[in-house]
Amino acid sequence: MTESTETATTFHRIAEERRTIRAFLPDPLPQEVLDRCLDSALRAASSSNLQPWEFVIIKDPVVRKQANAICFEQRGPQTAPVLIALVTHRETQKRHSRFILDTLKERGILRKSQEQYWSRLMPLIYAQGPFGILGMFKKAASRLVSLFRPMHNMLSLADLRVMTHKSSALAAATFMLALKAEGFDSCPMEGFDPWRAKKLLGLPRGAEVCMFLAVGKRAETGLWWERILVPRAWTVREI
Ligand SMILES: Cc1cc2nc3c(=O)[nH]c(=O)nc-3n(C[C@H](O)[C@H](O)[C@H](O)COP(=O)(O)O)c2cc1C
Repeated sequence: MTESTETATTFHRIAEERRTIRAFLPDPLPQEVLDRCLDSALRAASSSNLQPWEFVIIKDPVVRKQANAICFEQRGPQTAPVLIALVTHRETQKRHSRFILDTLKERGILRKSQEQYWSRLMPLIYAQGPFGILGMFKKAASRLVSLFRPMHNMLSLADLRVMTHKSSALAAATFMLALKAEGFDSCPMEGFDPWRAKKLLGLPRGAEVCMFLAVGKRAETGLWWERILVPRAWTVREI
């Protein structure tokens, strides 16, 4: 077996073995394992490289108890040694765009098109105005233009939410696969109260919890059923 085949086989086995685990052993998750998995997750692809995510590791026992309640006392978070709130941000666009531009400049490779992309286009796409009215206007105008030529259309507040959640979910997927590669398991959750979660974590404007992630070693009762995959023909097609 060539080296790349071995790597591929290992990767596919990890993807196969990653399952949602709903009961965990109390065994701790070593900090260095968590750090390695976070490092991989932070390398996930993101829209315009804006990396809109923030992994909030809940250590405070009082906050943790409240977070468990916000997750409807699901067994995963109740038993997991580690609970993480994966937060997705819209407002960090400004800081991250600036950082990307500064880095490109420092590296001496900043092009005019990049300057325009992150200093003009991104603020234009992310600007929403009061109550998202500007966003709706931009969306309507772009829809009109798209009748005549291809046009960027992800311009409303709802679109921005989709964009930031998409990228953050990719980071979550990478994180869960990394954990599996390290011999640990996870339970991703959107079963929680989003308003209470936002309040509990003191999140700023434009931020919301994308999902909670319970993490640890699986208990014997942690896997609820064998994998159920709908027929491949329903989920993959060629045109
Ligand atoms: C965005 C998202 C939200 C989910 N929310 C929950 C949840 O709140 N509670 C739960 O037990 N499982 C949750 N799951 C796990 C799914 O039920 C699980 O991924 C699916 O049944 C497939 O099983 P598998 O992950 O073991 O392959 C969620 C998964 C995703 C991706």
